[in-house]
Amino acid sequence: MASTLFSANLSSAADGRESLLEQYRQVRRQTETLCQPLVTEDYCIQTMPDVSPPKWHIAHVSWFFETFLLLPFDSDYRLFHPCFGTLFNSYYVTHGQPFPRPQRGLLSRPTVAEIYRYRAYVDEAMTALLTTLPEARWDEIRPRLLLGLHHEQQHQELLYTDIKHILAFNPLRPAYQTPTLPPPAGATRLEWLEFAGGIQTIGHESEGFCFDNETPRHRVYLNDYALGSRLVSNGEYLEFMDAGGYQRPEYWLADGWNAVRQQGWQAPLYWEQQDGQWWLMTLAGMRPVGEQEPVCHVSFYEADAYARWAGKRLPTEAEWEWAAALQPVRGNLRESGYLHPAPATGDSGLQQLYGDVWEWTQSPYAPYPGFRPLAGTLGEYNGKFMCSQMVLRGGSCVTPADHIRPSYRNFFYPGDRWQFSGIRLADER
Ligand SMILES: [Fe+2]
Repeated sequence: MASTLFSANLSSAADGRESLLEQYRQVRRQTETLCQPLVTEDYCIQTMPDVSPPKWHIAHVSWFFETFLLLPFDSDYRLFHPCFGTLFNSYYVTHGQPFPRPQRGLLSRPTVAEIYRYRAYVDEAMTALLTTLPEARWDEIRPRLLLGLHHEQQHQELLYTDIKHILAFNPLRPAYQTPTLPPPAGATRLEWLEFAGGIQTIGHESEGFCFDNETPRHRVYLNDYALGSRLVSNGEYLEFMDAGGYQRPEYWLADGWNAVRQQGWQAPLYWEQQDGQWWLMTLAGMRPVGEQEPVCHVSFYEADAYARWAGKRLPTEAEWEWAAALQPVRGNLRESGYLHPAPATGDSGLQQLYGDVWEWTQSPYAPYPGFRPLAGTLGEYNGKFMCSQMVLRGGSCVTPADHIRPSYRNFFYPGDRWQFSGIRLADER
C-alpha cells in the first residue's frame, strides 16, 4: 500500500461514456476489494441499529443502481429477485416500505454468495446499459450514474466504520488488516491561523459532482476568526480526561451530560484501559493510544465539551469551508492505507484539513438559502435529514480521496461516535 498522502478527482463534467464506464467498474471493484479480508460470518453481523451488516451494504448499493438506473432506463431489465426491493431499500419511503433497519442483522438469507451473484447481475446489466444507451438519453442518465458512484463510495466509508464496530464488539478484537503505520512524528505545536471575516461565499462552485445539499452557493457573514493549525491530539484529550472532563457537568451541553451519564462515557469510543494504560481499537487490532495522533471516535457532545474546557469553541461550517477553499485536497485519506488517523507532520499552515478525522462543526445540518432537493424519490437522499444533526467537514482516513471536496457536508447526530470523527478548535481573532 502506498504511504503517501493522496488526492484525486473521481470525475469531471467533460468525462465521456468510456471514462464513466471505467469509473463504474473501478468503484464497484473497490467495494469488493474492501471486503476481501472479511470471512462469511463477518458479513452478517449487526452490532447496533446504526451498523448495517456488510452484506446489506454491498446489496444496497446494487439495489440503488437497479432502482434508479436500470428500471427507469432499460425497459428489458428484469429484477434479480422480487423481494430485494424491500430488503435493500434503505429509507426511500416514496419508493416502498423498507425492511426495518435495526433488524438487518437478523436475516440469514439471502446468503453472501447470493448477494455477490446479485452484484454481478447488476454489473452485467449496467455495462450493457452504459454501452448501448442512445446518445439522446445520455444527459438524463449521467447525473444519476455519478450519484450512484458517489453513493457507493459513501457506503465504502460506512463499510469501514461498520466493520470496525463489528470487530471491536468481539472480545477477541480481531484485526481487519495488518498494521500499517504512518512515519513517526514528534509533537507539533498547535498554532492559531487567522482568517479575515466579512461577506464571503460558500457552497459548491466547480463543474464537478456535488450532492444537492452543497447548493446553492450563497453569501455568509463571518467575523474575523482563527482556526487551530492541527487537530486536537489524543494527548490533549487525555489532559481533558485527567482534569475530570467526564465528571464535571459545567463543560457539557445538557443533552451531552445526559449522554455521559446514560451511556457511561469515560473516554472516546474504542478506548479501554489495560494495566493502567489506555489502548484503543483500530482496523489493525488493539494498540496503545498514541499521544500525537488526532483524537477520534468522539461525539459532537464530547468535541463541544473539550472545546469549552480548553476555552475555545468549534468552528462553524462556513468558517471551515472559507478557510479550506484555497487549500489542496490532500491528506491521510483512504488511499494512504493507514485506515487510522495520523499525527500532524509539523508543516506550516492548516494541517490535517482533509482526511484523518471528520471535524465536528457547531453548525446544525440545515438547508442553504434557496436549497431545492433533487426531484422525485431521489429528493429523499439528503433533504429529509435536515433536522437534529450536526455538520462535519473534511473527510477521514477511510474517505476515498476522490470523494471529498471543500463544500462536502457530512452529517450525524450529536451523540454518534462510531464514525471517524474528531476535533479542530476555533477562536475569535
Ligand atoms: Fe445508501
